[in-house]
Amino acid sequence: MSTSTVIEQIREAAAYIRKEIGADPQIGLILGSGLGVLADLIEHPTVVPYSSIPHFPVSTVEGHAGELVAGQIQGKQVLIMKGRFHAYEGYGVETVSFPVRVMKELGVATLIVTNAAGGINTSYNVGDLMVISDHLNMTFRNPLIGPNDNALGVRFPDMSEAYSRRLRTLAHDVAAKMDFSLQEGVYVGLLGPNYETPAEIRMFRTLGADAVGMSTVPEVIVARHAGIEVLGFSCISNMAAGILDQPLSHAEVMETTERVKPKFLKLVLGIIEAL
Ligand code: HPA
Repeated sequence: MSTSTVIEQIREAAAYIRKEIGADPQIGLILGSGLGVLADLIEHPTVVPYSSIPHFPVSTVEGHAGELVAGQIQGKQVLIMKGRFHAYEGYGVETVSFPVRVMKELGVATLIVTNAAGGINTSYNVGDLMVISDHLNMTFRNPLIGPNDNALGVRFPDMSEAYSRRLRTLAHDVAAKMDFSLQEGVYVGLLGPNYETPAEIRMFRTLGADAVGMSTVPEVIVARHAGIEVLGFSCISNMAAGILDQPLSHAEVMETTERVKPKFLKLVLGIIEAL
């Protein structure tokens, strides 16, 4: 750990990325398990491995590549995080969300986050895409703990519209034009890495959650602190524990995201075009 302040680290990381990509990204994307393939749609991409960026952590989990990919999609300048960091890998939530602060420094105004999640709402089906309407932070960790740097955001950020209503409406409109519909619901974010027990899932359903996962919440908290508008999607990769009479596995999660990929790609492309 270097002795420089967080803001110096953000600026150093951003300066390095800016030099590498030679452009100012407008839209940031954080793509979860198996969904990084969107980066392949960038024309003339610039790839920046996380390991080359000052102060950037390096991703470890299977199915996550660990690189930034920058360039144009549908005429918009985008910066894609192919592979994200998770608290269950041993990173602090301030480390998990550090790239979002770097995106802000680079000029990103809109963040699209995606994840794979277990369906808690019994009306959902495996393979559904859910627009995240709100979240429950059940990590009991917060990336904003510590002295607040007013250059990054206010001390007590408002979270009453963490996931932009405007962008959620846009997502439904884009999906409707493509002749499919999206679920919309509350994402509960946990630390993991074990999947939940059936009793936990019943509790989360009672608390108002529709889908469960192990990511997204720290990044969205930091994005809102930074004033970035957020749109989030969960790919319902499996039904949560105890709903179906079968065990959960990472293999099922990867299989479903692989199957849903074409539809997901179409949707995100449509949204980028409409932004
Ligand atoms: N629980 C938690 N995280 C997940 C799940 C789940 O069922 N599926 C994919 N990520």
